[in-house]
Amino acid sequence: MSDLLFFCKTITIMLLFIRLRGWAVVITKYEKKQAILFDFHLLSHEDDYNFAYQLEAALMEKGKILFVDDEEEALLLLKRVFFDDDNIEIFTAPGGEEGLRVLESADIDLVVTNLRMSKMSGNEFLKIVKDRYPEVLRMILTGYSDISSAIKAINKGEVYRYLSKPWVDEDLKATIYNALEYINMKSIIKSQNKELKVLNTKLEDKVKERTAQLEKALNRVKDLAGTLKNNFNEIVSLLADVVSLLQKNLGAHSRRVVELTELLCDEMALKNDEREKIIYSAFFHDIGLVGANEELFTRDIDQLDSDSREIYLQHPVIGEKILGSVKTLGRIAGIIRSHHEEYNGTGFPDGLRGKQISPGARIIKLTSDFDNLVYKKGKSKEEAIEIINNESAKLYDPAFAGAFVRILEKSTGGLHGSYCRVAVKNLKPGMHLEDDISLKNGLMFVPSGVTVTKKMIQKINKFSSMLQLDYEVGIRF
Ligand SMILES: [Fe+2]
Repeated sequence: MSDLLFFCKTITIMLLFIRLRGWAVVITKYEKKQAILFDFHLLSHEDDYNFAYQLEAALMEKGKILFVDDEEEALLLLKRVFFDDDNIEIFTAPGGEEGLRVLESADIDLVVTNLRMSKMSGNEFLKIVKDRYPEVLRMILTGYSDISSAIKAINKGEVYRYLSKPWVDEDLKATIYNALEYINMKSIIKSQNKELKVLNTKLEDKVKERTAQLEKALNRVKDLAGTLKNNFNEIVSLLADVVSLLQKNLGAHSRRVVELTELLCDEMALKNDEREKIIYSAFFHDIGLVGANEELFTRDIDQLDSDSREIYLQHPVIGEKILGSVKTLGRIAGIIRSHHEEYNGTGFPDGLRGKQISPGARIIKLTSDFDNLVYKKGKSKEEAIEIINNESAKLYDPAFAGAFVRILEKSTGGLHGSYCRVAVKNLKPGMHLEDDISLKNGLMFVPSGVTVTKKMIQKINKFSSMLQLDYEVGIRF
């Protein structure tokens, strides 16, 4: 008993060690001591605990063995072999039928049977045990003369081991202990498998929960990105308003070019990212002219003196430098630099040609030139279209020029529709402004050349006290 207590203490200390290291190392209690190492590093410490306690409980349970033999003397000898072993409980039966009765009443772990018995043969008995109690381990202990029956039983898979009579006590004990150890381990593994199934289910639930959390976080980031983008768009619009205040003609030209560029991007079915980049470029394509003399916006390049001409030729490079210094607008700086490049390589500042010029710059070259033809040179829409057609493949990308002309030819109202005058308070979305809307103090509020939008009407209502609402402006519709 004291040995058993010592053994239990040893096991407890070892299990504590197991928990700390995340490993389970167990020394079996049986005579033939074997070290069994289990790698449970994938489980948590709590799992290691559970496993260790299960194993300890299994080891502490008595192994129940049923010996079946019609030789009374053999049963007595077998009992004597395990007489001093407190960990094993021995049951005996003088035949197969009696053995089955024992199995009905006791929770037997292992049956060991003779094969040659007077009533029910050992093979018959084993077959019934296998059918009714598949979890019970089966062994044969029989004489040499029964070897062929034993082999048959082994081959049918009905027994775990075969032992021959007469036996050597030590061999018999070692075999029985091994069998009990095998039973214990099988039971523990089965129990562990059940737990692993539960753990897997928990893990799947955890993964689902984490996925839902990530999706939620992603949606929050998307919302935030949407808010930042709206703020950015408002800042771009504010900057355009400031440019309009500083340079009336430049503001009006930029807003008209933005409208035309939006139409052309839609016609070309550009992707959202590309479209957005080009629209921003349209807003700021001439920002290098802020502060320049007004004649640069009203006269053709051939009519400028050498100083003004030099400023004009430098404005794409200056614009690139201004926007290049702003991190969020840096991506459009290249388009600003190239918006006066020509398809045949005769443009400025770099003399790029064809596909060397970015699509955004090729588009703004078209829309900006068209606006200058109409508002700077006084050409009609039809004359401007004819010029664009003639210059296609020289100044303009023919594919873009074709798409742009299609848009212009389709437009009957708005930009080039019928002319009339209406009071500021009666403006409606879609009307194309031919005159500026100014504040009472003379500052420009909305430049001519833009299309009235819902947002613009809201802005007019918001600042109604500062505007002359009965003042009439020219519109096209
Ligand atoms: Fe320009």
